Amino acid sequence: MSTVIENQRHLFRIPDDITYLNCAYMSPQLNSVEAAGIEGLRRKSAPWEITTEDFFTDSERARELFARLIGARANDIAFIPSASYGIATAARNIHVGAGEKIVVLAEQFPSNYYTWQKLAEQCGAHLHTVPVPADGDWTAALLETLNDGVAVVAIPQVHWADGSLVNLEAVGERCRRIAAALVLDLTQSAGALPFDVSAVEPDFAVAACYKWLLGPYSLGFMYAHPRHHDGSPLEENWIARANSRDLAALSDYDARYQSGARRFDVGERSNLVMMPMIIRALEQIDGWGVENISATLARLSRYLAERAVEAGLAVSAAGHNAPHLTGLRLPRQDPRAVLEALNAAGVYISLRGDCVRVSPHLYNDKDDIDRLIAVLRRQRPQV
Ligand SMILES: Cc1ncc(COP(=O)(O)O)c(C=O)c1O
Repeated sequence: MSTVIENQRHLFRIPDDITYLNCAYMSPQLNSVEAAGIEGLRRKSAPWEITTEDFFTDSERARELFARLIGARANDIAFIPSASYGIATAARNIHVGAGEKIVVLAEQFPSNYYTWQKLAEQCGAHLHTVPVPADGDWTAALLETLNDGVAVVAIPQVHWADGSLVNLEAVGERCRRIAAALVLDLTQSAGALPFDVSAVEPDFAVAACYKWLLGPYSLGFMYAHPRHHDGSPLEENWIARANSRDLAALSDYDARYQSGARRFDVGERSNLVMMPMIIRALEQIDGWGVENISATLARLSRYLAERAVEAGLAVSAAGHNAPHLTGLRLPRQDPRAVLEALNAAGVYISLRGDCVRVSPHLYNDKDDIDRLIAVLRRQRPQV
């Protein structure tokens, strides 16, 4: 049973006159995350206090926390600097044959597109783009496409432009049946929407930290299924090798890697600033509970949808959209004028495609939604 969480704006530093409904762009920082970052920044001023163990302790804690969030084990988690790095790692470790298909969704985020486009070119494979479904149901559209001859399905849990959802359990089940690899970009969902690797069984899943994980920019996580733990990393750094705890003996080169997915870690992953920040953020998310975050944001998004419809706006993919990310369509308006009017009123959202993308978090309440709708109404005096 999930519980609705009361407003958490006091944990952030958001001025009273700002209505920030743009977590899908970048989350604001929790005060505690900011404090952890500042403390981390100061640590390098005294390097004599930094021990070898410090290169491992925080990263293991962060791995553990992210693993718990998605029902995995710490051993399955690697650090990546961006979603695109994780996708490139996945592509390097999946075999695609000539004539086979790589399946993506129309207009999905470029970090989960270009790598596949290039791989398809290199392998003589075919990149198949599932068109935007008229009824918003990506799952049905995907299942129709997923038949023999598909080598990879590379998709998000939530479409970044309008919040339309994919039922990953159904897609995962189909991928297993047709022996296709499943690669997921969870950047727009991890931390805000429940996800369980054991129910979906992806090959790889990546998430950048700076949105719904409430963490710093330039850090992300990658889950790698144990069947890929003997895979090939993008780079060969010292800390991913089995002997890396012994700094004095690093040049006794070791062919073995650290266990599990650690071999995929990006170089210099033990960042003194970012590790404490993401630990604090994940502890807070764990404290709230993703189910509860999701239920709370769903309530707010339902309120948004009601107010939007009253104001004559269409909700994109209605009935198939995520609890934390809503696309409102502005058919006959200049979207840039709408954005300017919103910003002038201190209301922040994103324009993606032909949608106003609204993505609240626990620092938002119904007043924020009312403020947004009031400006959108003013922009459309005819409704
Ligand atoms: C779905 C999705 N994936 C990934 C990213 C970020 O990608 P990267 O970490 O490669 O910059 C974004 C940013 O908006 C996104 O919306």
